[in-house]
Formats: sequence, C-alpha cells, structure tokens
Amino acid sequence: MPEHAKHNGNSRHPRASLASLQQVPFQKLSHRACTPFSTVPRAFLKWAGSKRSLLPELVPILPTCFRTYREPFLGSGSLFFLLEPERAVLSDSCADLIATFAAVRDNVDAVVQYLRPMRPDRERFYQLRSHPSRGRFKRAAEFIYMNKVCWNGLYRVNSQGRFNVPYGQPRPACRIADPENLRACARLLRTPSVRLSCCDFENTLATAKPGDLVYLDPPYVTRHNNNGFVDYNENLFSWQDQERLARLACELAREGVHVIVSNAHHDDLLDLYPGFARLRLLRASTLAASATYRGTVSEAMLYSVRKHGSSRLR
Ligand SMILES: C[S@@+](CC[C@H](N)C(=O)[O-])C[C@H]1O[C@@H](n2cnc3c(N)ncnc32)[C@H](O)[C@@H]1O
Repeated sequence: MPEHAKHNGNSRHPRASLASLQQVPFQKLSHRACTPFSTVPRAFLKWAGSKRSLLPELVPILPTCFRTYREPFLGSGSLFFLLEPERAVLSDSCADLIATFAAVRDNVDAVVQYLRPMRPDRERFYQLRSHPSRGRFKRAAEFIYMNKVCWNGLYRVNSQGRFNVPYGQPRPACRIADPENLRACARLLRTPSVRLSCCDFENTLATAKPGDLVYLDPPYVTRHNNNGFVDYNENLFSWQDQERLARLACELAREGVHVIVSNAHHDDLLDLYPGFARLRLLRASTLAASATYRGTVSEAMLYSVRKHGSSRLR
C-alpha cells in the first residue's frame, strides 16, 4: 500500500454516520474568502481551475452545518483550506498531487527544507522535470517548485505519464517556499479525521451519508468554440464522465447529502442537474494558450443544499 494511502477514505467508517454536525461560521469564512493571500491555511498550489477567486461566491451557498466534507476533485483544495473541516475525505485521480499533499502532511519540515533554497530558474526547472528525485519529501518539494514556476500552474502529463508543462514567466521574487502557510496546511491535513486518497471520484462518493457536504469541481471546459458550444476536454474528463458524475450527484442530493457542483454554464450541462438551484458566475480566464481565447468564462454553481439539517431534492 503506498504511504499516502494509509489514511484511506474508501473503507466504510463505522462511526461516520454518528459524526456530529459541524457549524459553518459564515462571517469568518466570508472574511477569509475576501482576503485570500493573507490568511492561513490557504491552498499552497496554483491549480488549473482553482476556485480560489470564486470562494466569496461559494460561501453563501454552504449549508448551515454538515457532517463530513467530501472533495473528490481536490486540485489545490481551495474550499477545503477555507472551510477547515473537522472531518474530510479528500481525493483526486492525480497521484503526484495526492503524494504531495501526503508528504506535506507527514513531514512538512522536510518539504520546507528542500524548498527554501529553490529559486525560479529555467535550467533547474527542465533538469528537475526530466530527472525527478526519488525521496517522497524531496519530490513533493520539486512538485511545489515546478507548480510555482511552470506555465500558469498547469499540471499535464505526456503519454508516458511524465509532467510536460513548459517553464512559465515567474517573477524573480516569486515566493516558492511559504513555511508559515505550508505548516498551517500540514496541521489541518494531520487532523485525525481528514483522509486523503488517490482514486476516481466514485470511490469517494460511495460512502457519502445524509448530512455530508460534497463539493464537486471536475475538469470541465477549455474554451467556447466559435459556435458558442463548450469544447469539453475529452482527455481530462469525457462527456460520459460528466453524465456519470451528474447521476451520482442527483442520487446523493435525493438521499439528503448537501451537494455543490461547479461546472461550465452551458445548457447541456445544466440539464444534467434537474432540481438543483443555479448561480451563474463570470470569471476571467487565464488558461488558454492563445490570447484569442482568453477573456471571460461563464461558470455555474449548481447546488442542492439545505440551510438547516440535511439536503433533499424537491
Ligand atoms: C478543476 S480541478 C479542481 C480544482 C479545485 N477545486 C481547486 O480549487 O483547486 C479538477 C481536478 O479533478 C481531478 N480529476 C480529473 N478526473 C478525475 C476523476 N475521474 N476522479 C477524480 N479526480 C479527477 C484532476 O486531477 C483535477 O485536480
């Protein structure tokens, strides 16, 4: 069993259904969401599709209280670090990402020690990219380093599964190590009832119980094409995956799980979530390779959340 799987969220936890309710401190969260760079803990990675900038919009739709927080498309975990849940099941299909979270949890000092001397440097970046280290803490430091200096914090691998994003345009003063925040993140990840695993989203949703809060933020859209249709990124997440996810989300909502979904604001997608409340959000897009496609992206927050008790679709 890989080291990071030792707190695995996939097995049925006998006490999960008895977990007590955690209240959501709306005022504190709203304040923290609006000051994303000066509060700890906060996401320690830059991540494509990160919801850091949408946190102020996410806070008001959270339930008043919940049992276990589940985030099966973890990425940088922006909402997790804001919410600081006492019980959480976190997962992602990206093994290097989960291994990095686990390394930060298990020995943050070792990760910080490797990170401290690292500076933005094109040659060093390409050397690390082609010859990653073997030790898990050193490798986690290299993952964080490459994430900070690569193009837009993107994570993409080639057909052999090797990271292949080019060097970006980091500012010379770009802060690679942020020990205070990394330590705060490690403390939260070390909470005994916070579990981390590398798996498909279905595994993490299989054990959800009424009263749990599930946040679903799958990869969704790269750009709108000229006809106004959404160009789904089939390699990352197919339309069948979208349907599989929506079926599960609707089932959970019917069972009384609080479900929040972020996705592209597009009729085909919205139709997959009948009965969910909707919020349309506009966000500046920075990810397109060509300036032609950069601009404003229209996103949807779909939610089935009860402000008191558990959620149940009408
Ligand atoms: C949009 S990102 C999540 C961003 C995150 N909410 C944040 O604020 O940083 C989507 C994540 O889903 C993961 N992913 C893609 N397909 C998946 C699958 N089938 N099961 C679980 N995770 C998956 C990707 O590795 C990626 O980290």
